[in-house]
Amino acid sequence: MKHELMAGPAAPVVIVGAGHSGVAVAAGLRARGWEGGILLLEAEKGTPYERPPLSKELLKDGAPDESAVLRKEKFYQDKRIDRVAGIAVDSVDRAGRTVLLSDGSRRAYHRLVIATGSRARALTVPGAALPGVQALRTRDDALELKRLLVAGARVAIIGAGYIGLEVAAAAAAKGCEVTVLEFQDRVMSRVTSAPVSRHFEQLHQRHGVRFVFGAAVTDIEGDHRAERVVTADGDVFQADVVLAGIGVIPNQELAAEAGLECRDGILVDGHGVTSDPAIYATGDVTRFTSPIDGASQRLECIQNAQAQADRVAAHITGQPAAVPEIPWFWTVQHGVRLQTAGVRRPDDDVIVRGNPAGGSFSVVYLRDGRVSAVDTIGGLADFRPARKLIARGDRMDPALAADPRVPLTEATLTGAVLNAPAPIHADPATARS
Ligand code: NAI
Repeated sequence: MKHELMAGPAAPVVIVGAGHSGVAVAAGLRARGWEGGILLLEAEKGTPYERPPLSKELLKDGAPDESAVLRKEKFYQDKRIDRVAGIAVDSVDRAGRTVLLSDGSRRAYHRLVIATGSRARALTVPGAALPGVQALRTRDDALELKRLLVAGARVAIIGAGYIGLEVAAAAAAKGCEVTVLEFQDRVMSRVTSAPVSRHFEQLHQRHGVRFVFGAAVTDIEGDHRAERVVTADGDVFQADVVLAGIGVIPNQELAAEAGLECRDGILVDGHGVTSDPAIYATGDVTRFTSPIDGASQRLECIQNAQAQADRVAAHITGQPAAVPEIPWFWTVQHGVRLQTAGVRRPDDDVIVRGNPAGGSFSVVYLRDGRVSAVDTIGGLADFRPARKLIARGDRMDPALAADPRVPLTEATLTGAVLNAPAPIHADPATARS
């Protein structure tokens, strides 16, 4: 039997997907002293790269076409991390502990880590395949979009989420005529509350971006390329470029076809272990129980991609994992930063802290009187205290929390620890059973 087909401890940890999470698993294994082989498989060619600049810096005129790499090539060599780029993994043979690659070869694994991330949800209306209609997920997508965003271009953006709004800002800065068509009645409704939505909507409007809410796109028309976007109301928007930023779908097919439990994401426990103890999953593609509030969740953020990767590396090496972090997210639009600690749910209470008109304020979200999340806009003063309060589960005084002169950590109720939930802690099991 060839060495590369030998399953068991002699075989490497095989990581499928070299995004933020996959690369972090490889790095984390070496950082934790893993001596065995590591094989990182990625369908895209080239050196694994950072995604945040794709919708921001990379789109700017004069910016280099390369997105920053996650790790230099030398890192992979020095750390003995083998990489195969440009070849997809087609299937997993769990009984034989091998993966089948699209070039027909097989690789054995000791442990398999699925870090396949997510893909842009495709627009399915007639005309969606016309040239000029774009999604933004990969470096190639970003480079194509950059080419299309020229001064004077009419840009129709479908979806006012992170992608749509970051691209709207980049396009407006390049002198494009930008219209954002959003299904809901406000921007970023998935991730934030109405006061923050309103603030960013006005910010974009000041830069010339036009919004149409409650817009259901029914057709994209054009002879040889996109020329018009049509909505259910019968409105027609002339467009040279159409960007769809309508959310993502987890790339769970490889896991699902291998019989691993999936439900809008690969189901994993607190160590990243799937329903097969030899297979882990990490990053955007996973669904797991929040250690903070017990909710089932899929988190689309770099912080989670890295933290979960570290838990996987810890479990594979039989070491304790770090205390789970409070998730956080950020976006920058027209130079204004929105940074969020924690995960807000739609029915949380909303407390605006400070004056949005002044450009810098926070929004505190309370669930059963305790902080679930905090948005900071234009300033980060409340960000660290927010993470502390979310982890501690202190009960808050809403009036004090609304007063920006009172430090957030002092806006708690006296006797705050009464009835507080147990603080979050590291997973008790630190070694493989
Ligand atoms: P999103 O979920 O943030 O926003 C999608 C938006 O599209 C929502 O507002 C939704 O109501 C709207 N929508 C959905 N279907 C629609 C339709 N048919 N017509 C009109 N509107 C429709 O997803 P987005 O912006 O595509 O981002 C994709 C991924 O990229 C996410 O995982 C996000 O977290 C990540 N990302 C994160 C960034 C950050 O953290 N700064 C920046 C860019 C992307």
